[in-house]
Amino acid sequence: MSNHEVLPLSGHVASAVSEAIDRSRPDLAGADPVVRRSEHADFQSNAAFALAKRVGMRPFDLATELATALDGEQFGCVELSGPGFLNIMVPEHAIWEQMSARLASDRLGIAVSQAERRTVIDYSAPNIAKEMHVGHLRTTIIGDSLARILEFLGAEIVRQNHLGDWGTQFGMLIQYLDEHPDATWRHDELTGKTSAASALDDLYKAARKEFDADPAFADRSRARVVALQSGEPTTTARWQEIVDESENSFRDIYNRLDVLLTPEDSVGESFYNSMLTSTINELVDAGIAVESDDALVIFSEEVTGPDGSAVPLMVRKRDGGYGYDTTDLATIRYRIHDLKAKRLLYVTDSRQALHFQLIFEAARRAGWLTDAVDAEHVAYGTVLGPDGRPFKTRAGGTVRLMDLLDNAVERARTIVAERDPGMAPADLDRIAEAAGIGAVKYADLSTSRVKDYAFDVDHMVSFTGNTGVYLQYAHTRIRSILRKASDAEMPIDPSIPLAPAERALALELDAFGTTLTDVADTLEPHRLCGYLYDLARDFTTFYEACHVLSAAEPLRSNRLALCQLTARTLEHGLSLLGIKAPERM
Ligand code: ARG
Repeated sequence: MSNHEVLPLSGHVASAVSEAIDRSRPDLAGADPVVRRSEHADFQSNAAFALAKRVGMRPFDLATELATALDGEQFGCVELSGPGFLNIMVPEHAIWEQMSARLASDRLGIAVSQAERRTVIDYSAPNIAKEMHVGHLRTTIIGDSLARILEFLGAEIVRQNHLGDWGTQFGMLIQYLDEHPDATWRHDELTGKTSAASALDDLYKAARKEFDADPAFADRSRARVVALQSGEPTTTARWQEIVDESENSFRDIYNRLDVLLTPEDSVGESFYNSMLTSTINELVDAGIAVESDDALVIFSEEVTGPDGSAVPLMVRKRDGGYGYDTTDLATIRYRIHDLKAKRLLYVTDSRQALHFQLIFEAARRAGWLTDAVDAEHVAYGTVLGPDGRPFKTRAGGTVRLMDLLDNAVERARTIVAERDPGMAPADLDRIAEAAGIGAVKYADLSTSRVKDYAFDVDHMVSFTGNTGVYLQYAHTRIRSILRKASDAEMPIDPSIPLAPAERALALELDAFGTTLTDVADTLEPHRLCGYLYDLARDFTTFYEACHVLSAAEPLRSNRLALCQLTARTLEHGLSLLGIKAPERM
C-alpha cells in the first residue's frame, strides 16, 4: 500500500472551472469556482452568480462563456441550467480510477493537510478532588476526536489536560483530612463503586461546611493554604496523594472511554505556579495590567459590561491570591513560547466564552499571540436530561459518569442480545461495551457542538437512525458481505458503466477527505458524523439496487471494491471519532 495523496474529483472539477474562468475572463483570475456536489449532476458550479456583476454581465451569459471554455476539458458533460448554473458530470472511468487509487492507499488517499502545524489541544481538565461530571464528558469526547482527526491530517498534536489541581480549596481539604484520619478516600480503602474522586468530593463538601461554621477551623485551613503554597513537605505530600488518587479515578473513566489522554498529558494548574510572577511582571511592565481597587486587573479594550465599563480580567485578587485567570495567562504564554504552538484549542463549555475572549485579547496585547498563531475556544452546549431539563439523577443529584456509561453499555447489551440471542457471552460483553460507549460518544459528537442536547440512552443505542450503533452495524454488514465473497481482490475495471446508486456511493466515498478538512477548519466533528451517516445510507441504497455477490465479473469485482472502500471509510471515520468498529454485532 502507498500513502499517495488522491485529489478528490471535486478538486479536479474546481481547478478546471478556475482555469476556465482564468482563460475566458482574465480580469476574474483567481476567483472562487464555487463547486459543490449537486442533485442535478455530479457537481455544480455557481461561480457565474458570484462573478457576473464584477464584469457587468448577466450570470447566464457568463455561465455560457464558462461552459464553452470548459467543454474542451476532461469532462464528459457540462450543461447550463436555470439562470446560470453549470452542471458538470465527470467521466465514469475517472470515478472508478478514484476508487482504485483510494483503495491502494493505506490512508485512503487523504492529503496531509495540517502538516507540521503544532496544535495544543486543552481538553477534559476535570478538577482534582471532585467527581467528573457530565460536562467533562463533552470536553473529553470532543477534544479527543479533534486530536485524532487533526493528527491524522498531519498536525503535531500536544494534548494538555489542564487539571484543576491548585487553589485555596486544597488547604481546607487537607486540613480536614488531617483532623479526620478515619475518613476513607484512598482507592484501596474504598468498597463498591465509589471512586477516590467521588469520596474526596464528599469530604470536600463536609470540609466546606465546617469551614463556614467554625472560624477556628477556617483559620487552620488558611494556614494550610500558606503551607501548601510555600511548599511545606507534609502538606505537599498530602496534596500530591490527593492529586494521584483523583487522577487514578479519572484514568478509569479515560480507559473506559478509550480516549488518548495519558498521564504525561496531565499538566495541571499547579504546573504554572512558578511562572505566575514573571507573567504578571511582564504584563505590568507593558502597562497592560493595572492596579484597581487594590487588585491587579487587565481592562478589556473590546468588551464592555452592561454599565458600559470595560470588563476586567483578574490578574491578582485583592487578597493577593492568584486565580483561574492568572493561571490561564501564564498557560497561554507557555504554550506559545515554550511549546511553540501554532494553533491553540481550548475545549470547554460555552459559558467560558468571555473568559477565553479576554485571555486571547490580553495575550495579543502582550505580543504573545501573533498572527502566526491561531487561538480558538472550542465551545460546547449543555447536556440535558431526556426531559430536556438539566441532567440530574432521579434524586436530583449529579449523574456519575461511570454510572452513565454502565447504563449505556447495559442497554446496548439488551439490544444486541435481542438481535442475536445465540451470541457467545464473551462476544456479547465485548460488543456491548463497544456499542454502548460508541453510542454515548456518537450522540455527543453528532449534534452541533454549540447546541445543548438531551441525553437519551434509548435513542442512542438504537439500530436505526443517526446513531453510533447504526453505523457500527452498517459496517458489520459490509464486512459480512466481504467475508462471503472470500475471493482474492480483483482490480477495478474502469470501463464499466456506473448505475446511479453506484455513482452516488462512489462520489460520497471520494468526499471523505474534503469532509475531514472541513472538520479541521470548523472544529465541528458533527460534520464527520453526518458524512458517515450519509455514506451508510448511500451504501444501503446501492446494496438494495445492485447485486454484488451474484453479479457477473467484472461487475462483481467492481462492486466488491465499492464495498471494500465503504467498509474501510466507515471504520476509519469511526476511529477518528474514537469509536470502535467491531467485525460482527
Ligand atoms: N478545570 C476547568 C473546569 O472544570 C476547565 C479548564 C479548561 N482549560 C483552561 N485552560 N482553562 O471548568
